[in-house]
Amino acid sequence: MLFQRQRAVSGRHRASALATRLDAADTFIRQFTGENPESGDPERRLREVRAAVEAHGTYEHTPEELAFGARVAWRNAARCIGRLYWRSLMVRDLRHLRHPDDIAEQSVEHLRLAGNGGRIRPVISVFAPDRPGRPAARLLGEQLVRYADDPRSAQRLALARELGWKGGKEDFDVLPLLVQAAPERSPEYYELPEDAVLQVPLTHPHHPGFARLGLRWYAVPAVSDMTLEIGGISYPAAPFNGWYMGTEIGSRNLGDTDRYDLLPTVAALFALDTSSDRSLWRDRALVELNLAVLHSFEEAGVTMADHHTESARFLTHIEREQRHGRPVPTDWSWIVPPLSGSATPVFHRTYDPVDETLRPAFLHRADPWSGC
Ligand code: ARG
Repeated sequence: MLFQRQRAVSGRHRASALATRLDAADTFIRQFTGENPESGDPERRLREVRAAVEAHGTYEHTPEELAFGARVAWRNAARCIGRLYWRSLMVRDLRHLRHPDDIAEQSVEHLRLAGNGGRIRPVISVFAPDRPGRPAARLLGEQLVRYADDPRSAQRLALARELGWKGGKEDFDVLPLLVQAAPERSPEYYELPEDAVLQVPLTHPHHPGFARLGLRWYAVPAVSDMTLEIGGISYPAAPFNGWYMGTEIGSRNLGDTDRYDLLPTVAALFALDTSSDRSLWRDRALVELNLAVLHSFEEAGVTMADHHTESARFLTHIEREQRHGRPVPTDWSWIVPPLSGSATPVFHRTYDPVDETLRPAFLHRADPWSGC
């Protein structure tokens, strides 16, 4: 009895999951053909998609749909100030890959392509999607490249150590990739080859002592812990990158007290008066740190935006989107840069509201396997 009741419930559950997927697919295919008129009549494609979903519980995007979906997910990212270039995203269709070894190998290739000798290219690598009853592999860890001594990566460091990784004893040691094939499987770890991880040693344009702090940062911020959702299909392994804006590193990664917490160190180097908050030593240290980051990336020939330029570009993006009749959902608290906010134009206005239901989208997940 109990067994049968459970079956009935799960049957209903499956039916509603199918209906939701069909709905999402329908909306996406119509959006795709709407924005890509050359792709023809959506009805034929929709019949195909419906038949596949009814037979297999899922369907396969065409390469064009996948590329469009990934680009629109970027366009929809309410926290991203760099959306002007959403159309230029290089989409690597790696949906045939689901084995951790292959995912690791192609993630390394991703870093090489994106790093491009310093001329950073926005790239996304899309690995196998989840299928009904068969979740796909996940990359554990929030970015492809992270440092072992960054407090934000404590969990990944602990897991890597548990799996047998011996590194992480020096400053700025690059953590290994962690890839997990299924929730019941142990993750595998993969050391990133040194030549795949472009890094920039930090120097200051006017203070020669700054270099002796031994600071550096990596060039390619490749987010790897978000699920790309397109038309009801979830791609949980889909690392993507743009280029850095200086403040991400200079203000947040190196300045935050729960990250590298370097404002006191920088203040000491510049002999700032730290006896009172009102000397604004933190503010001055932030400026020096941000200046060093921008200067160093420039010297190294690695693409990096400054917050003034990127703010202006974002407003251009909004104008452009408005000409296409599209809203630009935007989270003010993420768009305003964490340095001199009010000195940038993005501070002084309001935006279209954030819509959590908007798709395609990059979705946060509570843990790598939540929802499976
Ligand atoms: N804020 C993150 C970091 O500092 C990176 C997020 C993505 N950033 C980007 N410019 N695409 O590492």
